[in-house]
Amino acid sequence: METEYVLKMEHVSFRYEKENVLEDINLAVPKGAFVGIVGPNGSGKSTLFKCVLGLLKPQQGKIYLFGTPIEAFKDWHRVGYVSQKANSFNTGFPATVYEVVASGLAAKRGMFRFFTKKDRQAVSEAIEAVGMSAFAQRNIGELSGGQQQRVFIARAIVSKPELLILDEPTVGVDIHHVQSFYTMLDELNRRLGMTLILVTHDIGTITEKVTHVACLNKHLYFHGKAEEFEKLGEQTLSQFYGHPLQVLSHQH
Ligand SMILES: Nc1ncnc2c1ncn2[C@@H]1O[C@H](COP(=O)(O)OP(=O)(O)O)[C@@H](O)[C@H]1O
Ligand SMILES: [Mg+2]
Repeated sequence: METEYVLKMEHVSFRYEKENVLEDINLAVPKGAFVGIVGPNGSGKSTLFKCVLGLLKPQQGKIYLFGTPIEAFKDWHRVGYVSQKANSFNTGFPATVYEVVASGLAAKRGMFRFFTKKDRQAVSEAIEAVGMSAFAQRNIGELSGGQQQRVFIARAIVSKPELLILDEPTVGVDIHHVQSFYTMLDELNRRLGMTLILVTHDIGTITEKVTHVACLNKHLYFHGKAEEFEKLGEQTLSQFYGHPLQVLSHQH
């Protein structure tokens, strides 16, 4: 059977001003993958996501979501997004965990409607999937940064997207909870079959969980299976972070 790609980027280049921020990016994400994207600050990670979400239009190249060119793509309910800024959410906001997650449905379907029994079930399932059931009636402001981030993920998955994009979701998560945070993402990936693309700084932690790794620094320097990435070794990685180095070209 032919591999189904949730996301494909072909020769994508993007610039805000004169200089390219992304250059000739080729990336193919198969359905069911858990992709970790690593790269230094300012390497274009958030910009890449904005292109994939249709918020920025690359000057060159093609992007396909579920096989459809992004210009023609309309099924945005199939894509969920948790931004880097979720954790700077106004925590004085008087809403319960349940209400915040339910607002994820309202955002997709219009605010002024009554929730059906099916909607309420979807909200409970999303809260359960991120391990926050015990906190459903708590005020969002009373939770730790890591717990809040789980709630924002629940909000993003309540409409059951097939692709979930997360931009540095562990910023603000207590170091002791980072591991269990990734375990939760691993479960979303395996149990619900959700394709995940994640930007992170936690290189050591993600290689155990992800299926594919991509190293971005304007160019994509490595794009392959997690096992191959682990074989690269520390020296290669520090070279990647220090000065760009063509490690391996991928085989797509
Ligand atoms: N709106 C913008 N206008 C101009 N330059 C920008 C804008 N947003 C980001 N940049 C620049 O693009 C580069 C990549 O930024 P970004 O994608 O945010 O990187 P990362 O998420 O990897 O830290 C940086 O040099 C940044 O300063
Ligand atoms: Mg960023």
